[in-house]
Amino acid sequence: MNDVTMAIDPRNSGQLRTWDGEHGAYWAEHADTYDHSYADYQPALLAAISAQPGERVLDVGCGSGELAIDIVRSVPGASAVGVDLSNAQLDVARGRAGGVATKFVQADAQLHDFGEAAYDVVASRTGTMFFSDPGMAFANLARATRPGGRLVMFVWRGIEDNEWLREFTGAIGRVLPLDPPPADAPGPFALSDPSRVRDLLEGGGWAEVAFAAHDAQLWFGADADRATTFMVGQMAWLFAKLDEGGKRQAESNLRAVMADHEGADGVRLGSGAWIVTARRPS
Ligand SMILES: C[S@@+](CC[C@H](N)C(=O)[O-])C[C@H]1O[C@@H](n2cnc3c(N)ncnc32)[C@H](O)[C@@H]1O
Repeated sequence: MNDVTMAIDPRNSGQLRTWDGEHGAYWAEHADTYDHSYADYQPALLAAISAQPGERVLDVGCGSGELAIDIVRSVPGASAVGVDLSNAQLDVARGRAGGVATKFVQADAQLHDFGEAAYDVVASRTGTMFFSDPGMAFANLARATRPGGRLVMFVWRGIEDNEWLREFTGAIGRVLPLDPPPADAPGPFALSDPSRVRDLLEGGGWAEVAFAAHDAQLWFGADADRATTFMVGQMAWLFAKLDEGGKRQAESNLRAVMADHEGADGVRLGSGAWIVTARRPS
């Protein structure tokens, strides 16, 4: 983790350690794989964002920058600022941007001062699920958005709709009992409950909150071995809790899941997401 000079809510310091540490570095190293994994969702997300010529876009939790860069490349005169906690991913984003009108900044979106009404659209691809205080974050993002501006965020639905997380945590859970995370804790399911999300957004000053369910097969690797290696790295923090025998067993369980889902174009498992939209009242 680099020296931190940005303003950060102390309640997000655990997320900073994770994302500006080894986990974020892993995401940076495997940015192309994560992008490939999400690829079937990208057209629907870009269509929901529907950026217009000249619009200013804020990509929250932008990671390695694919969403911000795709928007700016496809819309004349659009510009984007991506914010994230992970310096390693921000470096990848800057390297990928190659001259397009983007800027990538390390910031805690929960409290960063973006300026009043500085953006037309706030967009995010799984980057808004880790706030310690999502009500505070969504109010901060509303302030950053011009009246009439939009929020479009991609978040996971519950575990019942996400075969990939059910199968992967199940493979490890047969070796190391795992408690399901509370539905309101920062993490993949933090924004899975529409009534909670509606309350958080409306409480933060957003209106016209709507949810569109989308389903896609996520891609994890060209074959079972590569998909296993990729997910063992992604879940390194869980593997670190196991002894050597436990690690071997969990990896073998994971490889069996991957083999069950290997097809002609690699390993794919089912997933379900919300594309949540909202508007800042004029
Ligand atoms: C699951 S990753 C998604 C990254 C990227 N949007 C993508 O689609 O590849 C979640 C990202 O949210 C970022 N994040 C978490 N909490 C944040 C916060 N408070 N402010 C800004 N970014 C945050 C993390 O650093 C991480 O890169």
